[in-house]
Amino acid sequence: MMAILQFLGFVVPLIGLITTAILLRRFASFIHVYFLHRSAIQRYALDDDTFAVVTGATGGMGKAIAEDLYDRGFNLVIHGRSQEKLDRVKEELLQRGPLKKIVHTLRINAEDTSTYDFSSLKGLKITAVFLVAGGASVQTVPYDQVSSEYANGVIRLNALFPIDLLRALLPQMRAAKVPMLVVGIGSITGRYPAPFLSIYSASKSFLLRLIHGLSIDESFHDPSADTTFHYMNVGEVISPGSFTKEPNLFCPTPETIARAIIRVVGCGHREVIPVAAKIMGKHMNLGEGKNKNE
Ligand SMILES: NC(=O)c1ccc[n+]([C@@H]2O[C@H](COP(=O)([O-])OP(=O)(O)OC[C@H]3O[C@@H](n4cnc5c(N)ncnc54)[C@H](OP(=O)(O)O)[C@@H]3O)[C@@H](O)[C@H]2O)c1
Repeated sequence: MMAILQFLGFVVPLIGLITTAILLRRFASFIHVYFLHRSAIQRYALDDDTFAVVTGATGGMGKAIAEDLYDRGFNLVIHGRSQEKLDRVKEELLQRGPLKKIVHTLRINAEDTSTYDFSSLKGLKITAVFLVAGGASVQTVPYDQVSSEYANGVIRLNALFPIDLLRALLPQMRAAKVPMLVVGIGSITGRYPAPFLSIYSASKSFLLRLIHGLSIDESFHDPSADTTFHYMNVGEVISPGSFTKEPNLFCPTPETIARAIIRVVGCGHREVIPVAAKIMGKHMNLGEGKNKNE
């Protein structure tokens, strides 16, 4: 009996100590990411020739990210599916201020097909890729009743398009020996599927694992390469396509979330919830995975 009590007297405080250490570590990470960390984005604006690629840049978060990057001195490739919108956003970007950067447009409807033409990006010195294009309409019917056209479109847009774009870009980024940043805009539904969005949730989960896998692969190819991969775990954001209510702490504007996304770049975590308020409900667990160089 004495031996058992002695054993418990040792083990119970030990468990308490370990639990406290884990919680303290999470708390320290939380303070670091949301209050102390300064964005590493400027590391990727190397010189006048440096480009960032932003997919889905004709509206919502993609447009807000493109605007922020333009103001920070990046030349841009903006992607969308309507040339008219692309031309309008390009014009708006060029009017933004004293910095006169180059803006190229890339029109591809990612849902249409799974063979994409990225040849116009060849030869550009690209250091940063923001995979923003995505989404799906909610289908309030049983899974087996959604059309295969819908299902394939969601998968092409959210999963196949990022794969093919990265297949086209990573070799030239690697060859240029520039620091490489890849940011995938994911969704909380990639971890916690939402009703009537199972295909979308699965496609975002796919993006999460793709980014995880590529971050490992790149460090195998060249352990000295300067690569950072992030999957941004995004909750509700005001958008004409999904949430159109008044913005608040838990459903911010695209501009607020774009700033938050860019602010956490290089924070040391691969998967990040960019808005601090969102994480409170997740017990300060920022998500899994560290970047290799951080
Ligand atoms: N809004 C949210 O609450 C929320 C929450 C979690 C995650 N997300 C994710 O965040 C990202 C951006 O969302 P958002 O709400 O800001 O988007 P949005 O306002 O709907 O804009 C999406 C952008 O993607 C483009 N796009 C859409 N379908 C396309 C296609 N088939 N081919 C090429 N481009 C296409 C749009 O072009 P057009 O202008 O031609 O439509 C637009 O430029 C998405 O990946 C979404 O899944 C959003």
